[in-house]
Amino acid sequence: MNTLFIGKNFIHLKEVDSTNSFASGLLSEQAPEGTVISADWQSAGKGQRNAVWKSNAGCNLMLSVILYPRFLSPQKTFDLNRMVSLSVWETVHHFLPDRSVNIKWPNDILVDGKKIAGILLENQLEASRVRSAVAGIGMNVLQKEFPDGFKRRPTSVSLESSKTIKRETIRDFLFERMERNYLKLRSGQMASIDKNYLHALYRYQEDADYRIGGHVYKGRIIGVERSGRLALEIDQKLKYFTIKEVEFCP
Ligand code: BTN
Repeated sequence: MNTLFIGKNFIHLKEVDSTNSFASGLLSEQAPEGTVISADWQSAGKGQRNAVWKSNAGCNLMLSVILYPRFLSPQKTFDLNRMVSLSVWETVHHFLPDRSVNIKWPNDILVDGKKIAGILLENQLEASRVRSAVAGIGMNVLQKEFPDGFKRRPTSVSLESSKTIKRETIRDFLFERMERNYLKLRSGQMASIDKNYLHALYRYQEDADYRIGGHVYKGRIIGVERSGRLALEIDQKLKYFTIKEVEFCP
């Protein structure tokens, strides 16, 4: 692994409730920036919108990275989502070059419309800056069978690739990309991250259906605000939505 700080302090646990919760517990001890907590199995893995993240034991990537992005104001926390999503996207895209890999706003990673990875960022804010952040990443790598009941069909690297790719190889690549993108963010090169995020964005500038307030509308994604709201054009008007306000129809 060729990084300066991401993954240098690496804690691997056989079993934990949630790597994000474990990492949050280390913040009070001032764990070094880039500390990674990874696990073979989580008994209470956390997903977005209070969902549960379930994953078979020992075959996928479940990890949390500790960051101290004190250079960011609380209004710009979505920059972190963009940076982490792009890093995970670059990783999946690298190992599945023949597939259509996309970031589904705000930060799911899809392969041909199926979910391969999810991200849960938990930020600790001060009045004028982000004190710390825990970037939790779950990626399906070796799992080949999934239970029913997912909103979006899951997939994994093994299901999408004819090659056998080790979890460690993918993990190390992810750390390198994340470090590169984090350093870009820290040095103010957000425009480049933003451009790449949009390039990878699922249904960007395509017509599709969205469920908003109980109704289905035809809309077109025009962009993503700095604050993270989705900019949709509906009936030739530009409207902005938070994650709670809009749902992608299949
Ligand atoms: C989602 O798509 O809903 C986000 C899923 C995030 C799951 C990862 S697995 C490692 C880390 N620890 C957690 O408890 N959640 C994240």
